[in-house]
This record gives sequence, structure tokens and C-alpha cells, in this order.
Amino acid sequence: MTIMEIPAFCAILVVIQLHVFPCVSFSSFVFGDSLVDAGNNDYLFTLSKADSPPYGIDFLPSGGRPTGRFTNGRTIPDIIGEDLGATSFPPPCLAPNTTSKAIHEGINYASGASGILDQTGTFFIGRLTLKEQIGHFEKSRSYMVNLMGEEKTNEFLSKAIFSITIGSNDILSYFRPSSPFSGDKIVPEVLQDHMVSNLTTQLKRLRGLGARKFVVVGVGPLGCIPYVLATRLIPEGECSIEVNSVVRGYNSKLKEGLNRLNREVGFGAVFVYANSYDVFRRMIQNYHQYGFENGDGPCCGGYFPPFVCFEGKGKTANASSSFLCSDRAKYVFWDAFHPTEAANLIVAEKLLDGDPSVCSPMNIRQLHHTPIIPIHQRS
Ligand SMILES: *[C@@H]1O[C@H](CO)[C@@H](O)[C@H](O)[C@H]1NC(C)=O
Ligand SMILES: *[C@@H]1O[C@H](CO)[C@@H](O)[C@H](O)[C@H]1NC(C)=O
Ligand SMILES: *[C@@H]1O[C@H](CO)[C@@H](O)[C@H](O)[C@H]1NC(C)=O
Repeated sequence: MTIMEIPAFCAILVVIQLHVFPCVSFSSFVFGDSLVDAGNNDYLFTLSKADSPPYGIDFLPSGGRPTGRFTNGRTIPDIIGEDLGATSFPPPCLAPNTTSKAIHEGINYASGASGILDQTGTFFIGRLTLKEQIGHFEKSRSYMVNLMGEEKTNEFLSKAIFSITIGSNDILSYFRPSSPFSGDKIVPEVLQDHMVSNLTTQLKRLRGLGARKFVVVGVGPLGCIPYVLATRLIPEGECSIEVNSVVRGYNSKLKEGLNRLNREVGFGAVFVYANSYDVFRRMIQNYHQYGFENGDGPCCGGYFPPFVCFEGKGKTANASSSFLCSDRAKYVFWDAFHPTEAANLIVAEKLLDGDPSVCSPMNIRQLHHTPIIPIHQRS
């Protein structure tokens, strides 16, 4: 069966047994950085990679082998997709033969080390900047249009969730001592404004390409991640106030920007702001209440630079492996930068069903169920 035939095939099934075998399924297009990369960096020449054990050790579909995800198991979009009925995870856009799958489950364009600003992540060499990620989506869309025509493509895209999880690396590189900006450092407000306006440009571009349901994830409390705690010598039990205040400033400007977009575009599209900051902050602060035993150290790799999480080859090579905690479900952080699957599960649940303090103007489950009128049906 070719791809071309699938919609017709589904339509027949729908007529015959609508309630038994629904063909409508969840699809999503994922953009962002290493928090949501599902393997794109495996295909790039880059220092930002998660292609060796123990990354992926708890990822069931791969049998515990690394997939390029920067965590031990599933990412937040993986978990949300599963809950909303996705049958498989959107494949990385750089993997061979990915585009043909687009009309089923969506595609993942995210890339570790990337940021909103083009220059972010140059230290790591290879990465897909946000602009490039959307360029790749543009190519996927042309493929869909060739296959299904403009109208069916727009209809399909109008139902899909477009999630964008980016901005952490822009802020981390702002604080990196070797940053090219460190000589004549711009003030945080200028950084935040550049981030929001560049991101807004890219969101509008996606909307022009047919995206209607957006989830834009704010930046988490970077001042509390093990990397920042160690490099900024933060006393135990505290977070970097300076880093977190730049994050909060960005998030509030982002939220305002999304409110503006919602007012401008009316019913034509919905931009959901996902407040991952407060969810993570609460979880880190009260980690015991959430079932964790460690809220500030990495499960894998050291507490100190270079923080590398890796596994030596062979069973007797302890000495050449980095530290790996014994119970991964008891740690908020998997490595010095990224949360564990256990933490991702808690955050995903909140973003799916949370109240307006977590997701506004609606949560992700409501967004998924909101009918949106595709472009061609509007005057
Ligand atoms: C990709 O598709 C081409 C032809 O369409 C095929 O020859 C090739 O084996 C496929 N590669 C993978 C990895 O599936
Ligand atoms: C994007 O950010 C850069 C700084 O990296 C800034 O100079 C530029 O004006 C911004 N572009 C837009 C469209 O906001
Ligand atoms: C490897 O580590 C295990 C447990 O940590 C220990 O029992 C064993 O002796 C170590 N082996 C070597 C070769 O160091």
C-alpha cells in the first residue's frame, strides 16, 4: 500500500466501523533543543550528542539502547503524544526516509545545543538552529502537498500539535564565561527581547505554513540545574538567583508575546504558553513530596566539570564509566543539564491537564480537542 492510498483506505474503514476503528490519530511536529531532540544530532557533526549508553537505558521501544534522546527514557513530548493516542513517536527529520511518515505521526526537528538565536550553540559546532528546523518543516510540507494537495495538507496540519521547546541554550550561553558576548555584555532585557522577537517571527512563519495549534514551552529554572549549581558555585539547597531571574524575565515577555499573537490571529490559531518553570521549580523545591531522593545532582556523570555521562565498554570497565545512580526514578536530573524520565512524566502530566497557571489559555488536552478551521475554509 502506498502512502497515497492511506487516506482513502481510512475513509472506507471509517464508514464501515467508525466506533471500532477510528483512523483519526494524534500527530505532532516537535521543534526545540536537547530537551526534546529525538535523534537529529546523531546525524550531525557535533559535540552535543546522546548516542551512547547509558542514554536511553529506560527507553522501551529501543530496548534500552540510545536513540539520541538526552535522557534515560522518554521526553515530555513523547509522553504527551502517548497519552493523546499517538501510535509511535515522531521520527527525527534527519533520519533516512522520515518524510514519508509525516502524514501519520508527525516529525521531530529538534536539535541539541540549538537556540532561538542563530549564534547560540556555535561552541558545539553542528546543530539545527530554530530557523533551520522550520526550513526542514517547509521541505516536509512541500512533500505533503505533492502527495495530498494543498487543501488536505492544510487540513492535516490544522489538527496537529506544534510544540516548540527552546530558549535554554540562549540563556545558558549568555552566562557562559567564554561567550563571545562576555566582553561587551548586553543587558538581560535586550537578550530577552531578541529571543521573544526572533521566536515570534518563527511562530508566524509556521502559522503561514499551516500550523494552527501551538504549544510554546517557556524556559525552566536553569538556575537550579546541576551544571549551573557547579559552575556558579551555588551553596547547597539554593539555586542561582541571577540565572533564574533572567529566565523569569524571558518567560514573562514570552507570555505577553503569545497573548498578543492570540489576540492578533483570533480563532485562526491558538498559541498555548506552557509554564514549565513553575512546575519544575516546585518539583525541585519539594522533591521529596514528588517521590524523589535527589533534587539537585545528576544521576549520571559527575557533579563537576566536564559532567560527562558515559559508559565504558565491557563489563569490567568500571573505572572508565561515569557514575550512574542505582535508582533513576529517584533523581530529578539525569545528567547535569537534563531531567530524568521520572521528572518528565510529572511535568508532562501537568502540561496536559494543568490549570491556567500552568498552561494558558488552555491546557494541551483541551488544545488537542479544540476544533480549528483550516485556512482554505475561511474567507
Ligand atoms: C529509504 O528509501 C529508499 C528508497 O525509497 C530505500 O532504498 C532505502 O533502503 C530506505 N532506507 C531505509 C533506511 O529505510
Ligand atoms: C533577532 O536577534 C538578533 C540578535 O541575535 C537581533 O539583532 C535581531 O534584531 C532579532 N531579529 C528579530 C526579527 O527580532
Ligand atoms: C565494578 O563495580 C562493581 C560494583 O560497583 C564491583 O563489585 C566490581 O568489583 C567492580 N569491578 C572492577 C573491575 O572494578
